[in-house]
Amino acid sequence: MRVPLAVTTSARLNPQLLAQAEAASRRWGVPLFLRRHKRGITSWFDDRAEALLIFGHDGVTLWDREGHHGFHGGMAHLRRLRLAAGEPDIFVRVAELRKGDAVLDCTLGLAQDALVASLAVGPEGRVVGVEKSLPLCALAWEGLKTYELGPDSCRIEVVHADAYEYLRTLPARSFDVVSFDPMFARPRKAQPGFDVLRRFADHAPLTPEALQEGQRVARRWVVVKGAKYSDDLKKLGLTPEPGSRYTGVDWGRIGSSKEDRPG
Ligand SMILES: C[S@@+](CC[C@H](N)C(=O)[O-])C[C@H]1O[C@@H](n2cnc3c(N)ncnc32)[C@H](O)[C@@H]1O
Repeated sequence: MRVPLAVTTSARLNPQLLAQAEAASRRWGVPLFLRRHKRGITSWFDDRAEALLIFGHDGVTLWDREGHHGFHGGMAHLRRLRLAAGEPDIFVRVAELRKGDAVLDCTLGLAQDALVASLAVGPEGRVVGVEKSLPLCALAWEGLKTYELGPDSCRIEVVHADAYEYLRTLPARSFDVVSFDPMFARPRKAQPGFDVLRRFADHAPLTPEALQEGQRVARRWVVVKGAKYSDDLKKLGLTPEPGSRYTGVDWGRIGSSKEDRPG
């Protein structure tokens, strides 16, 4: 029987990679498959695992039969450089992120927005990312562990959970900003790694109940990303904030729930 996820190392094995893979297999409660010298992994997708988290000399990579995605900063690297140079970032602007803020990213995915948030809130801030898909959560957790954030960012805490269930466990007003970036119905083009993300991601749309929980937990804003071609934001009662005409993405925001505000 195939397991949904297993861990292995690249063929050029060394004790450090093996230790990382062993730790990951324990952490995620998934099997560790040991590779025989130079043995390919393709046949494992027939009978052993649907997906593999592979620890290699160049970092951690999520593989399935169709392809793979190695954890890296991607566009977030560029966005962080721009932010550091004082240029605007739409997520940071719509969420009004400031140094010292606590941000709850309810749809961590490839951690691109979380990486930007970690720089925006700085070392004295806090970023928690929630991801429902086990393979994506494991990829982000293991990748972020060795990602060099530098002294101007806070670390990103990764939680494997359904965001709605997780929000319900949190006290009211415990994060400055709560963000949601649910999967779009139609894929956006030219995003490296996005095909892998789409195969493993949870595709359920954001519900009004989860948005409301976000409003309870947020002190300032709940921000939501939506596709320009869709009426996803409108259906949730959100109006797109002014942004770039050249992207297929809109951001909307809504304040924290009034009944939870002091006074
Ligand atoms: C569009 S991606 C987010 C991309 C992310 N903003 C980034 O910067 O890389 C949406 C992600 O949210 C996850 N997701 C969807 N519904 C969720 C839920 N209810 N709880 C937690 N994660 C969820 C999906 O599995 C997917 O990884």
